[in-house]
Amino acid sequence: MSTQWEDFFAIHLPPTDFEDNRSLLREFCERHERHGRCIVLITSGGTTVPLEYNTVRFVDNFSAGTRGAVSAEYFLEHGYAVIFMHRLKSLEPFTRHFSGQKLLDMLDIQERGPNTTITDIALRWFETQAESEQYQVSVLKKVCDIAALKPDSVDVLAPVLLRYKAAHAAGALLHVAFTTVSDYFWLLRAACECLASSGPCAMLYLAAAVSDFYVPKDHLPTHKIQSDTGAPIIQLQLVPKMLAPLVNLWVPSAYVVSFKLETDENLLIPKARAALEKYKHKMVVANQLQTRRHRVVLVTPKTSQEILLTREEVHAGTDIECLLVGEIVRRHKEHMQLEGVPEPVP
Ligand code: PMT
Repeated sequence: MSTQWEDFFAIHLPPTDFEDNRSLLREFCERHERHGRCIVLITSGGTTVPLEYNTVRFVDNFSAGTRGAVSAEYFLEHGYAVIFMHRLKSLEPFTRHFSGQKLLDMLDIQERGPNTTITDIALRWFETQAESEQYQVSVLKKVCDIAALKPDSVDVLAPVLLRYKAAHAAGALLHVAFTTVSDYFWLLRAACECLASSGPCAMLYLAAAVSDFYVPKDHLPTHKIQSDTGAPIIQLQLVPKMLAPLVNLWVPSAYVVSFKLETDENLLIPKARAALEKYKHKMVVANQLQTRRHRVVLVTPKTSQEILLTREEVHAGTDIECLLVGEIVRRHKEHMQLEGVPEPVP
């Protein structure tokens, strides 16, 4: 008899770009494993649950992707190769520093020579609206030519750019994106299959906010739900918890860290402990929605350690992920030593 998670995979088709992503994952893991480098799979952002097959409406899980994106940068600093599995359009490592209008705020327009004034460019730009695409591109190129970084932005951009270039040159960061909860599980399982041979060197850092409820594919209406037939009654069903096969079957030797988000402080630690008892993985990082940026608790079967930023640290812009990732890396190293794994390549 098949299990609930096997039924889930049987009902839901893989995403269209699945085979491409699977090849990328395989190549990435094999390359870093050959070099003896530890690999962390970070999941980040929220999954969606479609309410229609041709989806107009969906249920979303809250997460901006901050935890995952910031953590990825710190894992890279610790010498890990990082698979960043994220919700499409949620925050990503490095670019997160310039999201929204931050990048535009860093740019300035500079006069270049007597023949090209900003007014000329602006006037020509308005002309382009009726012109060919080629002409529009040539004008845009001129605009870029006269746009430069504001001097005080160089200090912000340069260190981020240097770290990004280093990660890129080392081929140490792989992005794969999901949107729906079923995309998420297909990618998660594929990544685990590629990571399994890394044994205790592989870490899973499951920070994504994953839906617990969904409408099974065979219950989905094909078209947009209409309002003129009255208020719809939508019956959600439970999504099987994938932590169970993940820990027991897919990556039994990996160092698995899951996250627990609650809004009720009283539930947080008991729920984290219950998850550890049930799934038998290494750690739950417990965080409360309202305080998650300055307080997390690292819960293991025998211990619990709070990481709390002071008011001054919060004010100075300290990332709690710097401390969180540092501590998890320390414990991962201890775990590898216990398992007899040689020191990883820095
Ligand atoms: O991105 P930010 O805005 O910075 O927010 C970060 C965060 C608060 C989202 C993050 O720190 C966090 O807590 N993420 C986990 C939130 C969550 O969805 O918890 P959960 O109770 O639904 O799931 C607990 C664990 O079970 C998760 O590790 C998940 O991978 C796993 N799970 C969940 C559902 C499911 N069907 N199967 C699973 O295996």
